[in-house]
Amino acid sequence: MVLPIYIYGDPILRTATTPVEENSEALQALIDDMVETLHTASGIGLAAPQVGRNERLFIVDLTPMREELEEEGLVLPPQPMAFINPEILWESDETSVFEEGCLSMPDLREEVVRPERVRLRYLDRDFAPQELEVDEMMARVIQHEYDHLEGILFIDHLSPFRRRLLKRRLREMTLGNVEAEYPVVTA
Ligand code: NI
Repeated sequence: MVLPIYIYGDPILRTATTPVEENSEALQALIDDMVETLHTASGIGLAAPQVGRNERLFIVDLTPMREELEEEGLVLPPQPMAFINPEILWESDETSVFEEGCLSMPDLREEVVRPERVRLRYLDRDFAPQELEVDEMMARVIQHEYDHLEGILFIDHLSPFRRRLLKRRLREMTLGNVEAEYPVVTA
């Protein structure tokens, strides 16, 4: 089932999530729905708060970029991936810059500085503990989605100057004036 995506301005996007306590049919159904939603919205990552939930969970699917990434020499694990109760254990001092967008803020793209590499621990969708060190695109999308679980959005990483320039567009979003090619919920 495709779930509507919550748009900037809804308080759920600013609420920290709660750890998932056990695997269940309901959890598996939520993951399936999030994958379907992500595909419908043509995104590469989606966190539970973006579909109005407070589980500490996000999914990533870099399949649309697979060819490009593999040409760059990246070995991509099977996609999509679910990250349950993730914890970032380490991040590199080296940073990189990349233009990010977010399904909760349609049509907004800004360059964001983040650590180049991170290591994290999480449960996969079978509830098996995993540890993973990632860089490049995978590190980028994982950090973006991880932030969502803490109620942090990519615009929080911008300079006060850049944020001021976006103020009007963000205000329009909070008023429900958004156009998206997927179902949304506005505040
Ligand atoms: Ni996002």
